[in-house]
Amino acid sequence: MATVQLIALAAALIFASATTSLVSAAPVVTYVFGDSLTEVGNNNYLQYSLARSDYPWYGIDFSGGQATGRFTNGRTIGDIISEKLGIQSPPPYLSLSKNDDALLKGVNYASGGAGILNDTGLYFIQRLSFDDQINCFKKTKEVIKRKIGEAAANKHCNEALYFIGIGSNDYVNNFLQPFLVDAQQYTPDEFLELLISTLDQQLLRLYQLGARKIVFHGLGPLGCIPSQRRKSKKGICLKRVNEWTLEFNSRVQKLLTTLNQRLPNANFLFADTYGDVLDLINNPTAYGFKVSNTSCCNVDTSIGGLCLPNSKLCKNRKEYVFWDAFHPSDAANQVLAEKFFSFLFPNLPSPSAAPKPSPSAAPKPSPSH
Ligand SMILES: *[C@@H]1O[C@H](CO)[C@@H](O)[C@H](O)[C@H]1NC(C)=O
Ligand SMILES: *[C@@H]1O[C@H](CO)[C@@H](O)[C@H](O)[C@H]1NC(C)=O
Repeated sequence: MATVQLIALAAALIFASATTSLVSAAPVVTYVFGDSLTEVGNNNYLQYSLARSDYPWYGIDFSGGQATGRFTNGRTIGDIISEKLGIQSPPPYLSLSKNDDALLKGVNYASGGAGILNDTGLYFIQRLSFDDQINCFKKTKEVIKRKIGEAAANKHCNEALYFIGIGSNDYVNNFLQPFLVDAQQYTPDEFLELLISTLDQQLLRLYQLGARKIVFHGLGPLGCIPSQRRKSKKGICLKRVNEWTLEFNSRVQKLLTTLNQRLPNANFLFADTYGDVLDLINNPTAYGFKVSNTSCCNVDTSIGGLCLPNSKLCKNRKEYVFWDAFHPSDAANQVLAEKFFSFLFPNLPSPSAAPKPSPSAAPKPSPSH
C-alpha cells in the first residue's frame, strides 16, 4: 500500500519535474509547514518571539553569511530539496504582503518552537503553532481564489506538494519539560493519543483546503540530540525518548494510511528518516564527520541550547553533525537531504550528485507570467 502510494506520488512529481525542464510548464509548487528544522524566517516577524535565530552565528555558512532566521549555520533540508527541484526555497509567509503574487509560487509557514499542540513551546511567547500555520494557508488560499478564481485555485491547491515536519517540539519543548502541565497531566501513551488525534484533525483540515499530496517528515531520534544527551550522566542517547519518537512515527504512519483510505484522492506519504539520522549519529566518520555527540556551538544545555553570539564555534563546521543543541549543521542537512530526495524521487537524477552543485544544473523555474 505505502509503496504503491509512494510510486504514484513519485510518478506525479517526476512528471511535474520533466514538464518543468522540457516545456517550461509551471514548476512544482510547495507549501511547507513545520518547526525550527524547516523555518526560513517567520519568527523574525514576531516581535516578542524568543525562538529566534536572526543573529550570529546562525547563517554563517548561508550564502551571504548572514543570519536569516534559519536555525542552522547554512541551509535547511527544505532549502536543499528545493535546490534539487530547481525551484526557489519558498519564502517565509510573514515576509509576504497580503496579496503577494508570490503566494502562488509556494510558501513556508514553519516557525521555530511550534508544535502540533497550541501550548507547545509556550515559553517562546510567540510562534506559529501548526493550527496557526494552517490558518495562514487558509488565508493564502483565499487570496489565490481572488486572483485566479475558485476552480483554478482548487486545482492549484490539489496539485501543490505539501511538506510537513512537526512533532519534535511537542516532546522537546513540552512533554519533556517537567515544569510544564502536559508532562504532569499525561502518561506517555495518553500524550501520544492527544498528538495523533489532534494531527488527524489538522491533516483533515488541510485536505479540506485542497491538499492532496502531503509528505510528512517523521521525527529523528530525539533522545540523541545534544540537549537530551546532556541529561544522561555519560552523555549517551536517551533510550526512552527514542522509543517515544519511534512510537510517534509509527502512529503517524498508520494515521496517514487510514486517511489515504478514507479521503478520496489523498496521497499522504510518510517519510521515515529516523534510521538515516541515527546512522549518521552512530557512524559519523562514514559520512566524513568527526563529532556527533556535541554541538559545534558548544551550547549543550538541557534548556536553552541555541547558539549565542559569544559562543566559541568549533574549528571545522563540516565535521559536526549538530550545529547547536537541537539542530543539525548544514553539512548534516546536505547528507540527510540527499537521502530524503532519493526516497521521494527515486528516478530523478540528483543535480548535486555532480562534483560541484551549480544552480544552472537544475531546471530553472519559469519566469513569472
Ligand atoms: C488551538 O486554539 C484554537 C483557538 O485559539 C482552537 O480552535 C484549536 O482547536 C486549538 N488547537 C489545539 C490543537 O489545541
Ligand atoms: C563525545 O564522544 C567522545 C569520543 O567518544 C568523548 O571523548 C567525548 O567526551 C564525548 N562528548 C560528550 C559531550 O559526551
